[in-house]
Amino acid sequence: METVLSGIRSTGNLHLGNYFGALKNFVQMQHSERCFFFIADYHSLTTHPDPSILHGNVKNVLSEYLAAGLDPDVATIYVQSDVPEVTELSLLLSMHAYVGELERTASFKDKIRKQADNVNIGLLGYPVLMASDILQHRATRVPIGKDQEQHLELTRRFARRFNQFYQVEYFPECQAYTFGGELVKIPGLDGSGKMGKSEGNGIYLSDSDAAIRKKVMRAVTDSGPVAPDSPMPEVIANLFTLLKVVSTPDTVEHFTTLWNRCEIRYGDLKKQLAEDIIGVIAPIRERIESIAGDEAYLSRVVKQGAEKARASASQTVADVRRIMGIKPF
Ligand code: TYM
Repeated sequence: METVLSGIRSTGNLHLGNYFGALKNFVQMQHSERCFFFIADYHSLTTHPDPSILHGNVKNVLSEYLAAGLDPDVATIYVQSDVPEVTELSLLLSMHAYVGELERTASFKDKIRKQADNVNIGLLGYPVLMASDILQHRATRVPIGKDQEQHLELTRRFARRFNQFYQVEYFPECQAYTFGGELVKIPGLDGSGKMGKSEGNGIYLSDSDAAIRKKVMRAVTDSGPVAPDSPMPEVIANLFTLLKVVSTPDTVEHFTTLWNRCEIRYGDLKKQLAEDIIGVIAPIRERIESIAGDEAYLSRVVKQGAEKARASASQTVADVRRIMGIKPF
């Protein structure tokens, strides 16, 4: 049996990128593998969120997880800060993580551009904490979107380095996981880049049908193909990427053929896309509200999750301490 772990930062509502990049794959595995899913609230502190909204964000993400099909009776669902063992593991692993390699990660470079006045140690050490999330359960499969690939590569590097340095076979090498075989990057609706929480270009699991239709109809397009079989510009390819994840193969083929014949009408494509997105989101959204209102249930879920996660993490921390030579008197 594989150990699977996936997580998400608690910085806002879940969008389609989170769903197709990580959550959906995880939901499909939860019944057959040993599964952990957590909310990365420590990681979200790197951007200094308002303390009065942090807990609400964790609660939103938790409710959305559950509404999307995570089953707390089979998977371990927990909040990162409820398992403080991860911070000790992160400290221990940081002794073998080098400043140069952390400074070179794409996410760090991106953040120092975006928040030049807040380049804190938490940002630099972000990949070490993420590796600790994974390694504390000795996970072997990690459902993620394409944007997290480099962090996973670092996790493997830290694991290998630890094993080699202490001459042990302790940490396994984890692999990114997706059912389609290839990691996905769900594009935003603004024509460039990925769908992201802070970019304002997303469709959220909590969006109403009307909001989804409005957002999709406004998505950026061009003036249409100029010649049969002409190369597809990025803005249009992005719409097709979305279509491929939410629609049937027949629908994708239908619009691809129209594109190749220069007969496509973007209005029709967008209408179909909006309805198929609604088909995915509406049943999830309908569950979010009733779950979010049930405080007792949510608190039971995270308590039970924290207990299971701590049992797994504390074993790892005890082993790592021993391997590194920290022994009780
Ligand atoms: P986060 O919170 O940005 O995103 C959570 C998950 O959603 C995926 N994702 C996407 N996938 C495809 N297309 C997109 N546009 C898109 N946007 C987001 C992400 O790849 C991710 O799988 N560092 C992580 C959180 C984390 C974590 C971990 C994940 C902390 N520790 C350990 C896995 C394992 C992050 O910021 O994800």
